[in-house]
Amino acid sequence: MAEKEVVETSEAQIAVHWQEEGYYYPSTEFIAQANMTDKGIYERFSLDNFPNCYKEYADLLDWYEYWDEILDTSDAPCYKWFKGGKINASYNCIDRHLKNNKNKTAIHFVPEPLEEGYQHITYQELYVRVNEFAALLKDFAGLKRGDRVTLHMPMVPELPVTMLACARLGVIHSQVFGGFSGTACADRIVDSGSNVLITMDAYYRSGGLIDHRQNADIAVEHAEKAGQKVDKVLVWQRYPGKYSAKKPMVEGRDFFVNDLLKNYYGARVEPEKMNAEDPLFLMYTSGTTGKPKGCQHGTGGYLAYVTGTSKYVQDIHPEDVYWCMADIGWITGHSYIVYGPLANCASTVIYEGVPTYPDAGRSWRIAQDLDVNIFHTAPTAIRALRKIGPDEPAKYNYHFKHMTTVGEPIEPEVWKWYHKEVGKGEAIIVDTWWQTETGGFLCSTLPAITPMKPGSAGPGMPGIHPIIYDDEGNVLPQGAGKAGNICIQNPWPGMFQTIWGDRDRFVDTYFARYCKDPNSKDWRDWPYLTGDAAVEAEDGYFRILGRIDDVINVSGHRLGTKEIESAALVVQEVAEAAVVPVNHEIKGKEPDLYIALKPGFDASDELAKKISDAICEEIGKIAKPRKVWIVKDMPKTRSGKIMRRVLGALSNKRDVGDVMTLANPEIVEEIREMVQK
Ligand code: WT7
Repeated sequence: MAEKEVVETSEAQIAVHWQEEGYYYPSTEFIAQANMTDKGIYERFSLDNFPNCYKEYADLLDWYEYWDEILDTSDAPCYKWFKGGKINASYNCIDRHLKNNKNKTAIHFVPEPLEEGYQHITYQELYVRVNEFAALLKDFAGLKRGDRVTLHMPMVPELPVTMLACARLGVIHSQVFGGFSGTACADRIVDSGSNVLITMDAYYRSGGLIDHRQNADIAVEHAEKAGQKVDKVLVWQRYPGKYSAKKPMVEGRDFFVNDLLKNYYGARVEPEKMNAEDPLFLMYTSGTTGKPKGCQHGTGGYLAYVTGTSKYVQDIHPEDVYWCMADIGWITGHSYIVYGPLANCASTVIYEGVPTYPDAGRSWRIAQDLDVNIFHTAPTAIRALRKIGPDEPAKYNYHFKHMTTVGEPIEPEVWKWYHKEVGKGEAIIVDTWWQTETGGFLCSTLPAITPMKPGSAGPGMPGIHPIIYDDEGNVLPQGAGKAGNICIQNPWPGMFQTIWGDRDRFVDTYFARYCKDPNSKDWRDWPYLTGDAAVEAEDGYFRILGRIDDVINVSGHRLGTKEIESAALVVQEVAEAAVVPVNHEIKGKEPDLYIALKPGFDASDELAKKISDAICEEIGKIAKPRKVWIVKDMPKTRSGKIMRRVLGALSNKRDVGDVMTLANPEIVEEIREMVQK
């Protein structure tokens, strides 16, 4: 019964139930050069050696002052890592590399338009740009340690420059994914209490120059309506002096960064000596309610964790060219485009455009031109590239030693194409399972040590000890062959510290379910609930099946069904809204939206479009429903609960099971005719 509940209420229900696959092994060449080849690492990071094992990660960083206590649990489950330590993230990502590597490329920027070529920013140049912008933020915008600032920026080098300038000052940055709408940006401005917004006038996407600045007007207007004053909007320019956004700047509020920077040429700002546990950034993510959660990441713990995992899992060496194709607006980009790679003195690639524009060979041409040897992307991109250009990789002369897949389960046949065609049979693959909340990887193979298994993320990372519980709280043992709720038994340095301004929600959402004693100060009593369903095989490898909560993973991006539903309810004709995930060949999942109207309104294509548009406006285009089904009534239980499970089955053309206990079983047939005709 327990297992049934996990399966029935969740997205896992429609996860493909793959066969267990065989192992793949790294080449001797890979092992010979790998950063981590010592199998003893698992023992060193065993629970017996917890938490002291994490000294090994922290020692990869430069500290102004070393910590006194590795883990303070006195406010469990809000933990403090490396207590007493003083550190600066910007210093660790830039300044400390100047002595030996100032001429090395820190960032390779690939603008979308081919004719713009490539731009290469050295560590020295990054140092100059970050310092000048930090001086501007401090003197012109008046930002100081502990302030929050919202960023709504595209994939351009100015984004890491902005993040690192904030980190230099101890200002907490909150980057909102560039594709989110102005309204979504406003919610995050309000929640974080930012009175400065940093944006860009325009950027390229799939051949068009998108006018992005107008989102700032919407964001500020909505934020101010909700009581959050925004004093300054700092606007970076994609083409300084050449392009101007359609809407004029607001006098006294909006400023072009490039104009202001002229006053700060040559400025230098001493990095703030931050406490290890001071927040570095907020990253909003979707959950079970309509309101996004601001995951608060600390400085020392987070940086130690992403630096260590970039070194040992991404196998980044200073001479590597590393390309993670995610967007910096998501946690993957923060941890594994910016902080982890730069702390390791890598050359990190930032690509403005999409992998398939102008053609399916674009990614491989970039890899060839920049001689990328570590490549990192999501199953949704791999599926798209496999579909539209299966033979493209072979046409380009690049060689990856290492590839990552992240963000959603990868089908074994897609994994095998990635391995054979993209990796040319040479590259190892790591399937890294983790979350916005976790800062860095939870499960993955260690590339030179643990063999790969298609479709499995692998064992827990060294120092991460997963455990699967059933709904009653029983532990499902290794090899049980049953799905359950995967939790992590122990805290780790990359873990978020709390939900910004909402400790109760933090505890309720992530710890209450399996907490052994709510008054305990012992981490052993606070297993972390990930919200995913998983199966653990005999060999201790974890297969992640999908979410057990109301979260849909669309192209590796997390969307809350409740968020989409509340956006639909903004439309005045709408009485009820229900969102269910539908399987999609490329995106993994897409949201299907069911709507019941208020009395007196009739269904029409115009109304369906109006609802769909409202969602794009409230959240962004990524949340656009596959289809808006306006139904006469929702299938409901006798107590009036909408049966999303039934709608999900209908949308995915699956058997709906027994519906006779519903209050209105006849509606199911009617909806089926509409949806499956
Ligand atoms: C959810 C977290 C990981 C950073 C980007 C997404 C799913 C993530 C995998 C994987 C299967 C995965 C989980 C997780 N997920 N990685 N390798 N295999 N599923 O971060 O937006 O916070 O989403 O993505 O369901 O809970 P996020």
